[in-house]
Amino acid sequence: MPDINLNKLIAQAGEKLQEVGIEAGLVEAELILCDLLDFDRLHLYLHGPSMLDDKLLQKFNQVIEKRLTRYPLQYILGNAWFYGRKFLVNEDVMVPCPETELLLDSVVRAARFCKSDPVRLLDIGTGSGVVSISAKLENENLEVTAVDISDEALHVAQVNAGRFEIEDEIRFIRSDLFEALEAGERFDIIASNPPYISVSEYEEVEPEVKADPKLSLLGGPKGLDIINRLVAEAPDYLMRPGFLIFEIGFDQAEVIFDMVKSDGRYSDCSLLKDLADIDRIIICKVN
Ligand SMILES: C[S@@+](CC[C@H](N)C(=O)[O-])C[C@H]1O[C@@H](n2cnc3c(N)ncnc32)[C@H](O)[C@@H]1O
Repeated sequence: MPDINLNKLIAQAGEKLQEVGIEAGLVEAELILCDLLDFDRLHLYLHGPSMLDDKLLQKFNQVIEKRLTRYPLQYILGNAWFYGRKFLVNEDVMVPCPETELLLDSVVRAARFCKSDPVRLLDIGTGSGVVSISAKLENENLEVTAVDISDEALHVAQVNAGRFEIEDEIRFIRSDLFEALEAGERFDIIASNPPYISVSEYEEVEPEVKADPKLSLLGGPKGLDIINRLVAEAPDYLMRPGFLIFEIGFDQAEVIFDMVKSDGRYSDCSLLKDLADIDRIIICKVN
């Protein structure tokens, strides 16, 4: 067995990653080892040193080499963490963002104000399924429908639901927003992390983001195409009271408030900021 020092290995790899612009290089180097060894951070430092061998080192170096190209770590490892759970991800789905956990929190909170039993949730643009699956796991009284326009994304979401043994408890539908839903269907909560990046913004995003499917990101010239449709169509699919809760881009709150107000069917509209104090979630209510 080679003489490998865990701390040195992490420091050297972390530095290399930082040199190509990955600020959290050290954390990523740790994460890679945790993933390869299937350890949490504590176990990595407790038991990692005795587990280091040539095979592991070779795998670690392969991951680092690939990551140095700025290909997303989650695609390399084939998984991403969301709300404390590990989900399968691949190039067919967007890598879930930590900010989207605020969308999930808002859904779980809104469910407490709904009168139906079970509370019916529609997740539009489910992608890897993180919102639908986490919501169901957090509150089993939710009846969840997950839609996406991408067959490939729906497949990933279904595999993820299977990992948590709830594949039969979520209804997955291929749909362009509400199009494939049954006439007269109503939900207590409609949640969405829609594509909301504008064409000009897309030019500026980090290389990792460019690896996400364009369908997940691009929301038309101003990033508002899908949000416009959501705001206009959701009231026809909502119970009373009902909530439309969705994620937005950092500079979109004002125009969306105007959009919601001029629609006239929403009784209330509020905004939540994320941990970085950036406008992130819009919650609209119909009575
Ligand atoms: C930003 S991603 C969100 C994925 C996942 N919900 C998450 O938060 O990680 C947007 C998702 O919306 C889907 N999508 C884009 N346009 C759509 C449409 N018109 N109808 C339904 N889904 C759509 C994309 O395929 C993608 O999976």
